[in-house]
Amino acid sequence: ATGNLVVIVGPMYSGKTSELISFIEIYTLGKKKIKVFKPLLDNRYNETSIVSHSNTSVKAIPINNSAEILPRLDGDEKAIFIDEIQFLDESLREVVVEMINSGKDVYCAGLDLSYKNNPFKVTSLLMSHADTVIKKKAVCHECGEYKGTITYKTVENGGEIDVGGFEKYIAVCRDCYLELNKSK
Ligand code: ADP
Ligand code: TMP
Ligand code: MG
Repeated sequence: ATGNLVVIVGPMYSGKTSELISFIEIYTLGKKKIKVFKPLLDNRYNETSIVSHSNTSVKAIPINNSAEILPRLDGDEKAIFIDEIQFLDESLREVVVEMINSGKDVYCAGLDLSYKNNPFKVTSLLMSHADTVIKKKAVCHECGEYKGTITYKTVENGGEIDVGGFEKYIAVCRDCYLELNKSK
């Protein structure tokens, strides 16, 4: 049988990595063989682990691009986990489709939108193939409501690909996002 694709999206701090780690735990508790990947670009805390903002972590294989995934598989993995998919190339789509077609469950987590409110194309592509899309929310840093769907950049420097945390990004709701951009 083919596998399932679950894609976890949302703004920063919405619990994407935490949710991915919860799914990893389900497979490891069941003694299922898995592999975890993350783009090397995200060197925030650690090059060989995925780490959540609440500091839970799991070992991961760092990769530069999606072509490095299939050669790292032994073939008998039950599930594959990939964090920070927004930093990977669009060919991730073909790689993931091949894995689900060959019977593996695949769990991907990443940003749906950049701080400029632009979709990350690779995330959009994977959402199209997903059996389940989990859209997470954060607590809005401005109004405190549980409606945070977009990330706001609080500093001027850096582009749309710019690794970082609370020193440059906050999660906000759409109303506060528009308000903050108006007062710029
Ligand atoms: P993501 O991968 O989506 O950035 P993480 O799973 O790494 O999310 O982090 C989620 C954790 O971030 C929450 O459990 C909470 O402890 C913390 N956190 C910090 N700021 C916020 C916020 N504004 N809304 C929700 N959680 C937040
Ligand atoms: P997180 O979703 O796990 O919090 O991590 C998101 C990473 O993506 C973090 O390193 C900051 C980075 N990022 C960008 O490169 N561009 C953006 O537009 C946003 C919002 C985040
Ligand atoms: Mg994360």
